[in-house]
Amino acid sequence: MKTNSFILSSAFLLIGMCSCNQSVSAPSDGWVENALDVASYQLKQTAMQLKDSTMLPRTTWTGYTLPFLEQQLEHKVNIDSLHANPPEQLLGKLRLCNIYDWTSGFFPGSLWYAYELTGNDSLKAQAILFTNKLNPVRYLKGTHDIGFMINCSYGNALRLAPNDTIKKVLVETADNLYARFNPTIGCIRSWDFGEWNFPVIIDNMMNLELLFNASRLTGDTKYSDAAIQHARTTMQHHFRPDYTCYHVVSYNNDGTIETKQTHQGKNDESAWSRGQGWAVYGYTLCYKESQDSSFLQQALHVADMIIQRNTTADRIPYWDFDAPNTPETPRDASAAAVTASAFIDLSELVPNGQKYLDYACQILQSLSSKDYLAGKGENAGFVLKHSTGSLPHGSEIDTPINYADYYYLEAIKRYLDIQKGGIQHSQNLTANK
Ligand code: GLY
Repeated sequence: MKTNSFILSSAFLLIGMCSCNQSVSAPSDGWVENALDVASYQLKQTAMQLKDSTMLPRTTWTGYTLPFLEQQLEHKVNIDSLHANPPEQLLGKLRLCNIYDWTSGFFPGSLWYAYELTGNDSLKAQAILFTNKLNPVRYLKGTHDIGFMINCSYGNALRLAPNDTIKKVLVETADNLYARFNPTIGCIRSWDFGEWNFPVIIDNMMNLELLFNASRLTGDTKYSDAAIQHARTTMQHHFRPDYTCYHVVSYNNDGTIETKQTHQGKNDESAWSRGQGWAVYGYTLCYKESQDSSFLQQALHVADMIIQRNTTADRIPYWDFDAPNTPETPRDASAAAVTASAFIDLSELVPNGQKYLDYACQILQSLSSKDYLAGKGENAGFVLKHSTGSLPHGSEIDTPINYADYYYLEAIKRYLDIQKGGIQHSQNLTANK
């Protein structure tokens, strides 16, 4: 029996014994098996379909009407900023991306997680195939998203099937990300497009993991030092007193603020749901990597804000916490998956972590229900339904998206890890009290 399969079967045994806190309803029996069965089927089918292609699965084609967008945004829409509606025959069909798209790492990364969770060798072969397709991204310099692209693909390959080429790709990409760090501003530049002087988006917190990995691989702390400085500067300028965050902060060359805005949220002062997820994930990660307690405090503040601000009964947020509270308002399953994954990690770092684990379990219960989890062969090959990419641009509204699948699988892995280490976990917490 393979180690992975063994770990998984042990975890299944444990789930029944020590599921989430009794005071909340734990995901129902067999939910992990069902989720992995669906995920493996969907990912394998899509990988088979695209095995000879240079393209990767991103989402499905969606459309919109202006009145709908204006009702969601509660203001008039600038039509120049909108994506064109696709031809009707494309609606609901698979939408691909090339390897230079910011989401290109998520499909290979999902294959790696599915392999890790099931021990299935054909998933491993597909993970290797699709990871290798991203090799030319190691030369890309024009975006912070190289962290997402390479760390989710090659970063997982390094954990599960390491070799020297993987290490080289990770370090070369980290060099390109590090080159975007401006020491006067104390941040990595996110985007090269647009009118901003030096835009930094909250999503950039996710790309710091690549820098921490590069320091581990090379022994050179310049990468992690830059990551820590980026996190400190972002903590100072991206957050409001209530711990919600701006999406975009642009800096002048001397480090003063040029502007604070949104790009994908409802308005400049709203709390875009996925941005809040990126924030809690990013600061949890930075605390784990640096042991800087101010990052842990920040993660806890953001987590508590999310619990308080998300008003949906099933814990899957509307696309923006400030979006209208109506049945028509699209959800964002991707924000929920990112949040669940971060909360499971966070729950292990503090004595009162159970409430974050409980909340993550509630999210996983919802995502694993028929409301969000695809049936096999449905949903254009994706695992989860009901994410929202960028509603203000009329793009990817109430649709599957590859990064929702990735963070859902990561959250399941983290959940299973906690189940396995449950006794150890509670002992640590007691010792820390
Ligand atoms: N990083 C872009 C997004 O979250 O949509």
